[in-house]
Amino acid sequence: MYREKPSDRLSWFQEHPSLSLHLITDAAPNRDARIIDVGGGDSLLVDHLLERGYRHITVLDISGSAIERTQSRLGSRADPVRWVVGDVLTTGEIGMYDVWHDRALFHFLIEPQQRQQYVEAVTRTVVPQGTVIIATFAPDGPPRCSGLGVRRYDERSLAAELGESFALVKAVREAHLTPWDVEQQFAYASFRKLARARPSLPCLCRGTTVMLRRESRRSRRSPGLARTHNICACRSGVWRRALHRRCRSEAR
Ligand SMILES: C[S@@+](CC[C@H](N)C(=O)[O-])C[C@H]1O[C@@H](n2cnc3c(N)ncnc32)[C@H](O)[C@@H]1O
Repeated sequence: MYREKPSDRLSWFQEHPSLSLHLITDAAPNRDARIIDVGGGDSLLVDHLLERGYRHITVLDISGSAIERTQSRLGSRADPVRWVVGDVLTTGEIGMYDVWHDRALFHFLIEPQQRQQYVEAVTRTVVPQGTVIIATFAPDGPPRCSGLGVRRYDERSLAAELGESFALVKAVREAHLTPWDVEQQFAYASFRKLARARPSLPCLCRGTTVMLRRESRRSRRSPGLARTHNICACRSGVWRRALHRRCRSEAR
């Protein structure tokens, strides 16, 4: 793909990746933050991060041509960036990061095992309290990209994929305009890695239950008392209390 078409003829091309930049600078205003863009391709995100003064940036992509393109675009500005040509699922130790950014890679992972490998890589690589930003095609986005099938997500199904070690912080939708002016709906979600990573709980719907947040409510029987509930999600929906009913049989 990268050998055949110039960057600005690829459907995912963005002159100004505003939403990614906003979510990254919001999560990590400190310019010493370590940021990795997985599946960065020849995206201009790295150019803009350098312009904003970020000093510790890594770009990882399976395509050597994409990385070479970005390096030659940046010239000597590419020098402080760490470049990794490799498969995010199998590259192994790639360092520790405060921010993990992925726009339009995760949705290509069709097989459950690939997604499990991806979540293991995120969990290994992001520091406690670090941020994970993932953008995929939204439920009303296209079913394919570059001739390949994709899985579409909203923030809840993304949360379910990531598991209990990550708490949803922010979810934003974007209507991306391709270079030929077709709208593609993207779902962006930003997660915080919990200080104490929790093992995810398998559910009978083949997802994992994820704790989204805690909610306190007045008890109906004793209005003076407040009760705290865990609000959890799995692929079948969002559930009050600790567990989805169908998961209980699997809980120890
Ligand atoms: C749709 S493009 C998005 C590029 C860039 N993130 C952007 O928003 O412009 C997906 C990118 O993910 C890369 N990619 C796909 N699978 C990958 C994998 N398993 N490991 C690393 N990179 C991968 C592709 O080479 C491609 O550059």
